[in-house]
Amino acid sequence: MKRILFLYYSHSGHTEKMILAAAEEARQAGAEAIVKKTPDAVREDLVNCEAVILGTGNYFQKEAGMFRDYWDRYDYDWLKMKTEFGIKPYAWVVSAGVGGDSCTLTINNLMKDLNFRRIFPTVIAFEDPTEDDLVNCRKLGRQMAELKPADDYPDLDPPSKQGRWKWPEKVRVITQKGIGVEIAHAWGDLLAQEVGTKLVVAPETDTVNRFKMMKAGRFHYATGTRTETSQMIMANRIYSDRDSGPFPARAVWICSRSGADSPILLLAHKDTNKFLVYRSVGWLHQNYDRIKGRHEWLKSANLDTLLVELKHTFLPVHDGLKLFLQGVGLWTNAFEESSEANAVLVDRYCQAFQECQDMADEKEVAVRHDNPEWLETWGNYKREISIPLIKVV
Ligand SMILES: Cc1cc2nc3c(=O)[nH]c(=O)nc-3n(C[C@H](O)[C@H](O)[C@H](O)COP(=O)(O)O)c2cc1C
Repeated sequence: MKRILFLYYSHSGHTEKMILAAAEEARQAGAEAIVKKTPDAVREDLVNCEAVILGTGNYFQKEAGMFRDYWDRYDYDWLKMKTEFGIKPYAWVVSAGVGGDSCTLTINNLMKDLNFRRIFPTVIAFEDPTEDDLVNCRKLGRQMAELKPADDYPDLDPPSKQGRWKWPEKVRVITQKGIGVEIAHAWGDLLAQEVGTKLVVAPETDTVNRFKMMKAGRFHYATGTRTETSQMIMANRIYSDRDSGPFPARAVWICSRSGADSPILLLAHKDTNKFLVYRSVGWLHQNYDRIKGRHEWLKSANLDTLLVELKHTFLPVHDGLKLFLQGVGLWTNAFEESSEANAVLVDRYCQAFQECQDMADEKEVAVRHDNPEWLETWGNYKREISIPLIKVV
């Protein structure tokens, strides 16, 4: 059973409703929920819990003074406290008249100093929480209760200036002209405002070109449907030119118009920087509540949809996404096994395609998708080495 501290302050009771909803659900999920208003809480409450959900109203663009008071009481004891426990997960809820963002900086800095990692998006209610807000609070309580303990948790907040890793100046995405570009801007423009990284979105109608550019290492991310991606990996027909064919694609994120049906995959090359993928995924997850309303398709670009897709995808999981899922306690042995097996197959296709081209060169067969002789050579080679087909389920 997990011991979760629900630590909050609420003047008119709005935040209190949110905290109580989250705590009740955490109890239902089997956790021990300790609910304390900050004046009643003591130092040991924080030391002895395994996770924390904080709550405050927004007062004069800051957390409530009485909420802050708890932290001020311990003075330099904080420094000792930090050494008394390892990294712990936390999340927070806020009720505000206008917006809760202004509390973010102090709460994040405070918790970061204490070795806490924010791992779930903040629930923000406007004044009295609506039923939808309370549903989100319950979901938060359950997620925290069901979180598996980990040695490390991903840090979803933008890295501090002193941090070793920095967001690059630009992140390059190549995607479908029209809808793909709209979706990328819907989240990319917010990312740019927040972390200062410009998302350069290249429109490309031709899917073959999109994947070619990834193979050449020109972009960090590309999008593709399941079918397009599987055809590319098997170097079928239009994907079988010398400079196209498979690249070692890895899964990063997903969005779709209708849940798990016809998903659009956000892909990276296996060599795309692991920490960039880790931070990108963390940012998407953390900001899901803010981006989901910015484009119809982004409504399903969340962790739930991703986990459904990962259960039956033919794609290996990118190392950065794996790191993130490990951090939030959702990386299972089953994912490890299937991702490993998928990686072996995808990389085998990449290698086989290259080997077959070398053979074709020796026989002076032109490697072109409109050359039937080449298509036959490639087809025969795949049969000869008994490489399994990639199945799109
Ligand atoms: C004195 C006072 C100052 C407030 N300042 C802000 C503010 O700066 N920004 C904001 O978004 N809401 C502000 N509010 C609105 C509160 O955040 C909102 O009423 C909230 O629901 C209070 O939560 P609580 O009942 O849990 O304390 C203020 C309210 C009061 C009474």
